Amino acid sequence: MSMLPFQTVTIDLAERSYDIQIGADLLGQAALFADLPRASSVLVVSNTTVAPLYAARLTAALGQHYPKVHLLALPDGEVHKTWQTLNLIFDALLQNGCDRKTLMVALGGGVVGDMTGFAAASFMRGVPFVQVPTTLLSQVDSSVGGKTGINHPLGKNMVGAFYQPLRVFCDLDTLKTLPDRELSAGLAEVIKYGPIADLVFMDWLELNMDALLGRDAQALAHAVKRSCEIKAWVVAQDEREGGLRAILNFGHTFGHAIEAGLGYGAWLHGEAVACGMLMAARLSQRLGLVDATLVSRLHTLVLRAGLPVVGPTLDATDNAGRYLELMRLDKKADAGEIKFVLIDGPSKARVQGAPDALVREVIDACCQV
Ligand code: NAD
Ligand code: GLY
Repeated sequence: MSMLPFQTVTIDLAERSYDIQIGADLLGQAALFADLPRASSVLVVSNTTVAPLYAARLTAALGQHYPKVHLLALPDGEVHKTWQTLNLIFDALLQNGCDRKTLMVALGGGVVGDMTGFAAASFMRGVPFVQVPTTLLSQVDSSVGGKTGINHPLGKNMVGAFYQPLRVFCDLDTLKTLPDRELSAGLAEVIKYGPIADLVFMDWLELNMDALLGRDAQALAHAVKRSCEIKAWVVAQDEREGGLRAILNFGHTFGHAIEAGLGYGAWLHGEAVACGMLMAARLSQRLGLVDATLVSRLHTLVLRAGLPVVGPTLDATDNAGRYLELMRLDKKADAGEIKFVLIDGPSKARVQGAPDALVREVIDACCQV
């Protein structure tokens, strides 16, 4: 991937603005870290899968600018996105004598990024942090925009904070070691941007899906850049999700129900979102907001990306009822009314409720093999 151009997307948030840098072999380029704030120490937080692959390269580069670079490898997996694991980060910060200037660096996928960001938001009431996302999903979504947090047994990402990183480094070379299933999961969040914001990008995805699955460097670079541009455009207008930002949760209301209902980790987040997008698209169609053609295009794209198009059964006796029960815990729910992100015409989304009976019909249809 060495012939790739180095690209920058800026996220415009006044004094909290920052750059997302996208390119090949960023991890080992010490010069890229030269203008980050000075501190006596850095804590790189990673996990037991990613650290052996990439931590040595990153810590060596950071070591050229910081006297002490500590590394913490957390247990790997969504099931570890908990208070207990978060506390391991605070333990490492305190045991290593870190202070309020310590720079924290998240090296890993969305689980590591969300937890490290939350730790950075709360350690000594806030220390600077940088995201080095190593999954496609984290490069196109979770590392950008400042949502951080952990899961609660009763709901996903229920405890957290908005806290922006100082910079995001998307090293496309790290995607070479990503398992195929994780690549597909990341493609779900890439596909998401088409229906809600940019049907031209959806056209591009239809033309380039095979290249993306084949990890073509140029295709991945474009997908990451365009996704980050769209996310940056949304977040710059609505950082704290007062309105518009909720469209980024397209597919997530149904998806979070799938994740929680099956138990975190059974389906990957991107898999649940993919299936959830199809449910949300069909609900949009039943509400008369979108025609069958777009729903069918989305279905084909999800299928081609290697993602599930049939919803899982969460309850043998009242499956739709169980989905509804779980979706009432969604953060967008308002006084018990579930709010769905719906496609509202080309490149446009809206957030609104829907009658339970209609939602039941959609779930029943989407969960039938
Ligand atoms: P993940 O962090 O669990 O990573 C997926 C798997 O890939 C893990 O086993 C990880 O160790 C491994 N991995 C990571 N990079 C690798 C690499 N380069 N090579 C080989 N293996 C690698 O999952 P994810 O899909 O990156 O993120 C999902 C999480 O992100 C969820 O918890 C979700 O809630 C969160 N999320 C947050 C936001 C946000 O805005 N903050 C947005 C979307 C998703
Ligand atoms: N992933 C949704 C958001 O960042 O708002």
